[in-house]
Amino acid sequence: MQDGDRGSIRAEHLSKTYNGSVHAVKSVDFEVRPGEVYGFLGPNGAGKTTTVGMLTAGLQATSGSAFVDGLNVAREPESVKRRIGVVFQESTADNDLTGRETLELAAALYSVPRAEVRRRVEFLLEQMQIGDAADRLAKTYSGGMRRRLELAFGIVHSPRILFLDEPTLGLDPQGRAGFWRYVLQLRKEHGMTIFVTTHYLEEADGMCERIAIIDHGTIAASGTPSELKDRLGGDIVTVRPVAGAAPAQEMLTHIAGVSAVTEQDGAYRLKCANGETLVPEVVAACVRAGIGLQAVSVKRPSLDEVFLEFTGREFREDEGMSATDRAVLLGRVRNQMGGRR
Ligand SMILES: Nc1ncnc2c1ncn2[C@@H]1O[C@H](COP(=O)(O)OP(=O)(O)OP(=O)(O)O)[C@@H](O)[C@H]1O
Ligand SMILES: [Mg+2]
Repeated sequence: MQDGDRGSIRAEHLSKTYNGSVHAVKSVDFEVRPGEVYGFLGPNGAGKTTTVGMLTAGLQATSGSAFVDGLNVAREPESVKRRIGVVFQESTADNDLTGRETLELAAALYSVPRAEVRRRVEFLLEQMQIGDAADRLAKTYSGGMRRRLELAFGIVHSPRILFLDEPTLGLDPQGRAGFWRYVLQLRKEHGMTIFVTTHYLEEADGMCERIAIIDHGTIAASGTPSELKDRLGGDIVTVRPVAGAAPAQEMLTHIAGVSAVTEQDGAYRLKCANGETLVPEVVAACVRAGIGLQAVSVKRPSLDEVFLEFTGREFREDEGMSATDRAVLLGRVRNQMGGRR
């Protein structure tokens, strides 16, 4: 292992095909630097959990290689497992253990030295603010408490690298913000590298130093959130003509200051340096051309626009109910039930 590899994660042409026909991950390449919070952002079924599986030695890659902390994951799976912590997408706190017992089990699984176990478990219970509920069954915890317990489970052995697969799924915005406070505090204290998958765009934007946008098993774009937004080159003005209006793309393209126009679902997206000053021009041009308007809006680019730009579709243009949707729904039902108890 080279010194520079400590705490790093690298994927080289990493691919996974299920049952010979489902191409879940298609030759992805990326590198996560030591100490970085790296976001893997993509809609349901994009290949996020599959990628985490291959990086954490839980799932065999079909081709390509993964390196974690300088080690080849396929060649040294056990060494890799000892150096990493994983918080899975699916809730694991559903058994008949208390919070404290859950963490003691984690300490045993990860071979934490016996003399250390008690101190570590107490420390984590306090740090995650579940000390008061430590002797209650974990399945009676709220969604936020469970996720904090799972986070504690994943770090009981002080791993150098932490993998979080949709860690805040099903939590309300407050719960999500709280969870991230813990994660970032941990990183500050332990200097961990954090690889996190999410389909919450705002979360990736706010929490990750760099992100990769994954869609249909390939990385569509990667960079810091602001680099990605800058690549869009300014603001987006969306023009929605009334139904049945004449085509306007050509006309809109000729307005001074508009650098590109795309059409989607009867609305036009205009790229420009300054959206607010462009709106009066756009409205005037439409009036001159006899095109009635339903709505005009200006947006500073968000990761939503970045996603649309690099994949050609809306982030939440989803079909059917995936694992993630089910978990979100389940979380809501649980929260509601919890509220009534
Ligand atoms: N064990 C499996 N056997 C066959 N196909 C699978 C298996 N696991 C995942 N897939 C398929 O591989 C693709 C990627 O799935 P994956 O779970 O990695 O996506 P994801 O990005 O984590 O999605 P989500 O946001 O819903 O968690 C999907 O088309 C999924 O149906
Ligand atoms: Mg997943």
